[in-house]
Amino acid sequence: MVSHSRVSIVGAGAVGASLAYALMFKNICSEILIVDVSPDIVKAQVLDLADAASVSHTRIRGATPEEAGQTDIIVITAGAKQKDGEPRTKLIQRNFWVLKNVIGSMQPIRQDAVILMVSNPVDILTHIARKLSGLPANQVIGSGTYLDTTRLCVHLGEIFDVNPSSINAYVLGEHGDSQMIAWDAATIGGQRLTSFPEYQAIDKKAVSKIVSGKAMEIIRLKGATFYGIGACAADLVHTIILNKKVVHPVSVYVEKYGVTLSMPAKIGWEGIQHVYDVPLSKEEEERLQSSADALREIEQLY
Ligand code: LAC
Repeated sequence: MVSHSRVSIVGAGAVGASLAYALMFKNICSEILIVDVSPDIVKAQVLDLADAASVSHTRIRGATPEEAGQTDIIVITAGAKQKDGEPRTKLIQRNFWVLKNVIGSMQPIRQDAVILMVSNPVDILTHIARKLSGLPANQVIGSGTYLDTTRLCVHLGEIFDVNPSSINAYVLGEHGDSQMIAWDAATIGGQRLTSFPEYQAIDKKAVSKIVSGKAMEIIRLKGATFYGIGACAADLVHTIILNKKVVHPVSVYVEKYGVTLSMPAKIGWEGIQHVYDVPLSKEEEERLQSSADALREIEQLY
């Protein structure tokens, strides 16, 4: 157990609960606090999770927003979720107010806390969380394209017959429809993906569609996604708590684009420690730029 290890999860729906479940089995938190506007949801999730907590020896309990504001890491999963056929950006009208209430009710937020934004549209909400909380940009992170990147690596793992963890490839930009894949910089074993014979046979447009459309495919079939994002968010919390300095693509304010979007970043105690500038082909750079432009158009309204 380490210090810096009290985590609050604001929003106790399926995403918040999956995150709590994934997190408690990492055995790295001294305490997990569950917060929601519905006392019944908090009670039900805590009762259920406490049964699992007894196996993982993690303390879990319901808490007030004020208590959450004093934890080391505040993960926000509250808000409306995507419906079938609806882009994530559509959620902004509803989730802006949810986030405004959440941040307002947690004030005064600890100045050294790290906020991990998970609700959608995650890039815009990360920008808003930074503005409303007043925390430095490095302390406000969005789960961003981490999940899309794992989806990409799993897919490429099948094509190249290699473990996804051995693929160094990133989905960058928006966690949404304008995201792009950085093919040119992708490597396996230090060898550029573009130099493999399998690469020539890849239908890149089709891969992009599979990756960016995976959430919608799941939503169509069972109404929501939660295990994937829960596991990714738990991994990000793990990286922060243990100051692991692992590089993940996450949503953060990036000076170069003047907007909040996903780029690979080194993550530790104080949140973002460094943002890497991925070498992109001219076409990829244009794609990332247009993803940044699409986000900026919405960002500037808030
Ligand atoms: C997804 C949600 C988290 O991509 O946006 O599954």
